[in-house]
Amino acid sequence: ATHTLFLIPGDGIGTEIMAEVEKIIAWTNSEGLTDFATDQGLAGGAAYDRHQVAITEEDVAKAKAADAVIFGAVGGPKWDDVPYEHRPEAALLRLRKELSVFANLRPAICYPALAGASALKRELVEGLDILIVRELTGGVYFGEPKEIVDLPNGQKRAVDTQVYETYEIDRIARVAFDLARTRKGLVHSADKKNVMKSGVLWDEVVRSVAKDYPDVQFQHILADNAAMQLVRNPKQFDVMVTDNLFGDILSDAAAMLTGSLGMLPSASLGAPDPATGKRKAFYEPVHGSAPDIAGKGVANPIAMIASFAMALRYSFGMTELAGKVEAAIAGVLGDGLRTADIGEDNRRTVGTQEMGAAILGK
Ligand code: NAI
Ligand code: MG
Repeated sequence: ATHTLFLIPGDGIGTEIMAEVEKIIAWTNSEGLTDFATDQGLAGGAAYDRHQVAITEEDVAKAKAADAVIFGAVGGPKWDDVPYEHRPEAALLRLRKELSVFANLRPAICYPALAGASALKRELVEGLDILIVRELTGGVYFGEPKEIVDLPNGQKRAVDTQVYETYEIDRIARVAFDLARTRKGLVHSADKKNVMKSGVLWDEVVRSVAKDYPDVQFQHILADNAAMQLVRNPKQFDVMVTDNLFGDILSDAAAMLTGSLGMLPSASLGAPDPATGKRKAFYEPVHGSAPDIAGKGVANPIAMIASFAMALRYSFGMTELAGKVEAAIAGVLGDGLRTADIGEDNRRTVGTQEMGAAILGK
């Protein structure tokens, strides 16, 4: 095989939605459109039940060796009381760290057929296609010191530390500008340079990267204004690059412009290998394992399938095939098919397998 995929379905609906991706891989392979060799691993509760860890060393090694990792979701009430270091989320954090995937890509696309179903005004979201590029391995979630200290007066002091170094900002900015070149050619960089030193450095480094991309338009925006503008007039944006904390919040806000959690894919990319130019990459839906609907066959597989389409585009340069998968998703929605989470009156409500089959049928 030319390319290797490591599939980690995880828990809950993870296994149900991954099954639909497997069918698509089998089809593209059989049509000669791809030459993927796939292997499967366990993570989260599924790994804990079998091996008493959130992910085994063997599966971590396989994830690192693969050309791309396709991940479902982990977690569920069954594993609420497992030891902290083996909790399901530990598998995700471990994989992100081992793969050093510092660039989190969260597209917010509004499919034409769903524009009317959005809680927002149709004219605001119809045709929306923006991409938030969030720094994922640095910033205030990781900076030291990070602690809660007892004070002599009986009170406590909590400390988190925002830290960014030049190289971390430089590499995420380059991801954003490279992506903008393949899109509408516009990058907004969101920070709080008016009140944060990390914002001052962020802006300085992004501006200097921008000089290497004279063909891409660059625009600075304060992060709080970015939140407002995302809700007021989201279509003014193309690519938005920002740090870990602001990216967490802004990408969730942008996500909700598009409808259901069950529609949202993501990609997390590492640095290109100096020898081969290949990036480590991790693709997953934004949603979790949805224990409330797990096992019922009603989960929306679109976020998972769209995550696979992102793998085709960003790991394998198969832009055309990725576009076909995305067009098939838009097509079945246009035909009126809906899973329960995006259900509307007068639409046909289908289950996970029927939605997957319809997308494959396009
Ligand atoms: P969740 O995303 O699993 O579910 C939130 C709500 O959205 C639920 O009502 C669920 O039924 C619905 N939903 C989510 N994905 C859907 C889909 N594809 N189709 C239809 N409906 C969908 O978030 P929640 O409930 O906060 O967490 C459940 C478990 O998932 C927890 O154990 C949590 O820790 C874990 N989780 C895992 C993530 C991951 O693996 N990356 C991310 C977020 C949560
Ligand atoms: Mg979040």
